[in-house]
Formats: sequence, structure tokens, C-alpha cells
Amino acid sequence: MRRTTARSGPKASAVDAAYEECRSLVRRTRPTEHALMDLMPPSVRPACWAMYAAFAHADDLLDFSDETPQERGNQLREWRAALEADLASGTSDDPIRLALTDAVRRWGLDLGDLLGALDAVQQDDGREGVATWQEWRERAHAQNVSWPEQLMRILARCGMPVPVRLRDLPGFTRFVEGLFLTDMLRDLPEDLDGGHVWLPTEVLERFDVTPADLIARRWTPAVRELITHLAGEARAWLDAARRALRSTLPLGPAIVLDTTVDLFGAELDAIVRAGGDALSRPVRVPRHKQWRILGPSRARAAVVWRLTLPPETVAADKPSAVDIPEDTPEWQPVPVADPPLPPRPHRDGVRPPEIAAALLPHHVAIVMDGNGRWATALGLPRDEGHRAGAVALRDVVQGALEIGLQHLTVYAFSTENWKRSPDEVAKLFAIMRAELLDGELLQHDVRLRWVGSPDGLPEDVVEVLRRQEHATRHRTGLTLNVCVNYGGRAELARAGASLARASLAGEIDPGRVSEQLFASHLPHHAMPDVDLMWRTSGELRVSNFLPWHAHYAELYFTDEPWPEVDRRGLWEAIEAYTHRKRRKGASTAPVVQARHDEL
Ligand code: FPP
Repeated sequence: MRRTTARSGPKASAVDAAYEECRSLVRRTRPTEHALMDLMPPSVRPACWAMYAAFAHADDLLDFSDETPQERGNQLREWRAALEADLASGTSDDPIRLALTDAVRRWGLDLGDLLGALDAVQQDDGREGVATWQEWRERAHAQNVSWPEQLMRILARCGMPVPVRLRDLPGFTRFVEGLFLTDMLRDLPEDLDGGHVWLPTEVLERFDVTPADLIARRWTPAVRELITHLAGEARAWLDAARRALRSTLPLGPAIVLDTTVDLFGAELDAIVRAGGDALSRPVRVPRHKQWRILGPSRARAAVVWRLTLPPETVAADKPSAVDIPEDTPEWQPVPVADPPLPPRPHRDGVRPPEIAAALLPHHVAIVMDGNGRWATALGLPRDEGHRAGAVALRDVVQGALEIGLQHLTVYAFSTENWKRSPDEVAKLFAIMRAELLDGELLQHDVRLRWVGSPDGLPEDVVEVLRRQEHATRHRTGLTLNVCVNYGGRAELARAGASLARASLAGEIDPGRVSEQLFASHLPHHAMPDVDLMWRTSGELRVSNFLPWHAHYAELYFTDEPWPEVDRRGLWEAIEAYTHRKRRKGASTAPVVQARHDEL
């Protein structure tokens, strides 16, 4: 069953109005950030406004009210306590808190992490400034790392396999520092009005500038050099972060990253050009420059989200119009949901065909072919095809659970796939890792088994495969065998070597090697035989896939590329299988399909 938050939570109109208020606050006070949020998929934008408005409100409570520092600190503490109470009750009489409460519940955001970021803002209360760059960095990270990570969680929830722990990616903390320093430079006029200088004392001393020089707006050569140096640092950090991060991010987030670096870079240029004015009035990037950056990004982002995300994510930016699953569990970056969630219904409400259990194939194997061609035909890089392919796999797995399939084996990376470009290979592994760690796949009653060799695989991929195998070992619904770094002949050769070793050790008699004995030396001897092998994208080959287990498989080929497949494709394949005559060498088909029980 699905519901909208609005039906059981606060009224849709109140929630929509709260988000709208957050939006106008962000648009009014942080137009650059607002423009960047507009690059996100429509259904995600309201949560961006809510998170940013909460953060900006907390910051402003400390910076801009007329009260004494102590009163301002108390105000923020009260606001933070009220937010916690609202999050517990699920509603609020304050629009920013109501929107944030809704966003946290709707998307399963990490509350502890968000509150931690607010607490870090609170710690600025009563502080005079920071002494060293190290201290400055710690402050930048504590206040700012959580927000983009929550955004990634939301994208993961939307159906996009992304790394949700950005802080583990090289370059990400540099990115945060670049943003924070740019923000500090553009907020200089307000901060100086309030008598605050947040730049590290060590850099002021290096340029022989005192906080009093800045507060008095003395545009000395030393101050000019300091501001030029800081703007150069911020730009260098942003550029370095872009270089490090770009290739690890999917195309949609990468467009947002590029545009952020370009827009913030334009702000830094404007600050340097403004000279002494940058200390006393907000500096704006000329409109035509903004448009030159934003216009193409908007068009590209809209196309990319449409191609790479499920349609409902791209459709609405009215939060209460988006359906979310009933009993959404807290979305933690933990390996798997316990207990597992029931299968997610298809968005069109389609149900599986009714097929008697005895007629169902026991084991279906899929060659998920055509990711690269699908992406290329749409003008996207090949890795976007793999990302869309992972989303297709999610849906097929839902369909397998719904129809009651016991074993599904998918070809995710063959030993031949190492011939692809290192960039494509690295991205494919990153997609698999993200999906297995943070995606939907293992939230359901799915037991993961990895079939393949660790030789040459990155350690973090091996680790996540092993860890998730272990975490799902007690699941009883569907066994999902994921073939990663798998080659059929290599598997047979390994079994042959193992038999030869056993023979040399005198453990077996070579004259008595039976099929059953041979099978027991295969790396995955407990895997049942494949009944049905399905390959998408029009190729009519089996490509070294499960030569032992698929010896009697029914073959089924379809033309559509894998990213265009959903669970209905699996059901059609299974229906086609039920009409095949499985004689297995006999002259008439058995009345009921033979069962291949696990060895
Ligand atoms: C073949 O298409 C597909 C692959 C080599 C990769 C398939 C992997 C996924 C769908 C992700 C799986 C995710 C998990 C979590 C198991 P191709 O690139 O060979 O397409 P082409 O023939 O058009 O080039």
C-alpha cells in the first residue's frame, strides 16, 4: 500500500506552504544556491530548500539579530530544541521546521548528522574567530559536510545509485572548503558589520592585516593582497575538487558540481574585481554571466534527470504530490533492512501473471546486455547506461520476488569486460558498490551470492560483496547470484584443477569422475541448474555465461536494451518458458516440469 505523507501527516497545503516559504527565503537570501537547487530533479528541490533554509536560519539567528550574543545563542538553542520536538511529533507550527520535519520523514534523512551540523553552527556562538587553517577546516567540515550527503541519500532513494558517503570520496572535503571560503568572502560585508572576522588569524598575520583593518574597511595594499590570495585559494580548491570528484559522480550530480564550481568561481572573480567595495557591500555576478553558466546547465540537467531517473521523480516539485512507501524505515547506510521490506509495487500497479508454482522456472539467468548502446544512442556516457541498468535490475528483482522466483543470476561483470576502458570499469564498480551498499536491492528479502573471482577486483568491491553476502545469508526469499569478474570456462578450468589436485593426493579415482563429482568441485556447486537464460538487446549468444549450470537452459532473447527493461519483461520471459516443452532428451515432455533441487 502506498500513501502520501500529506494524507496521514500535516495537511498537504500546510506542508506545501512551508516548503514555499523555505524556497522564498533561500531565493531572497542565497540566490546562487537557489539557482543551483533548481538544477536538481523537481521532486528533490523542496527538501533542498528545507535543509538550506534551516541551516541559513540557524546561521542568521547567530549573526543578525539585535540581541546580545548570549540572547542570540539562547534563541538558536531554543529553535534547535523545538526542531527536535517537531521531528518527534511529525509536525510543527514553524514553517522552516515543518518543511524540514517533512523532508526528514519523507526521505529518511540522517537526523543525527543534520542536528550535528546545526550544533556545529551553534558552536560559533561566543567564539571570537579561529586561529589556524586547521581549526577553520574542522569548522567548515562540521557545518557543511552533512547537507550534500543528505542530498545524495535522497537521490539514492529516487532510484539513482550514488555514493551517499561523500566524505569518503577524494576531493569532497576540498570542495566543501572551497564553498565555505567563497561564502565567507561574499558574506564579508555582513560579518564585518557584526564585528566578526572568521578568517584564520594565521592568514591575517601572514599578510600583515589585523581584524581591525577589515572591520574599519581599510583597503590597504595588504588587505587587497589578502583578499586576492583567499579568492585564488578558494578557486584552486574548487577546481581541484572538481577534477577529483567529477569522474566518480553520475552525470546528474556532476552537472550540479560543474555548475557550482563555475558559479562560485564567477563570484570569486566578481569579488576580486570589486576591490574595496567587496568589504562593504554584497558583490553580485552580472546577470548575463550567471545566465551563460546556468542556461546550458538547466537544459542539460533536465534532459539527464529525465533519462536517468524514474518518471515520478522528475515530474513533481510539489512535495505532497509524491507518493512514498508506507512504513518507510529510517534510511541508514547500514547494509540491509531487517526485517526486509515487502516487494515495492510497480508504479503502474501491474501484478505478476498467475503461474502455478510447479510450472515456474526454479532458476533464471540474465545477460543484462545493451547498457552501453542505450546510453550512446541518447548521447550519454556509457556509465549512465550501467546506472540505468542497475535501476532496471532493481525493478526486475521486485518482479522476481512478486512472482515467487527462487534463484536469479545476473551477469554484472565478465572476465572479458576488463577489455573496456579503465574509466568505464571503475564507474561500473562504483555503481555496483553504491547499489549494494545504499540502494534498494538489498532492502528486500534478497539473499546475495557473489559468483566470480577476486583476482584483480578492487578491494572495496570485494569487501562490499563479501559483507553483503554475509549480511543477507539468512534471507529466504530470492537468492540473487551476482556474477562479478566471472568467466564460465575459467570456472570449469578451476574445477578441473581441483579434481586433478584431489586425484594426485589420492582422494579420488580419476576413472570414477562422474558429472556429480565434477560439479562438486565447481566454485558454486550448490547453485541449481539454470532453467531459463534471458539475454536482452538483440544479441544471440551466451557469452561464456554459466556453461555448466545452463547446459539445459531454455534460451530467450529480446531486443530492448537492458535499461529499458522492467519486471514485466521478466514475467513475459517466465510466461514464455511455461509454454516450452522441456523434454530433456525424452520423446515426450514430462507432465510437470522437472525440478532441479539444490545439491
Ligand atoms: C552489458 O552492457 C552490461 C554490463 C557489462 C554491466 C551490467 C551491470 C549492471 C546493470 C549493474 C549491476 C548492478 C548490481 C548491483 C549487480 P554493455 O555495456 O556491454 O552494453 P553494450 O553491448 O551496448 O555495449
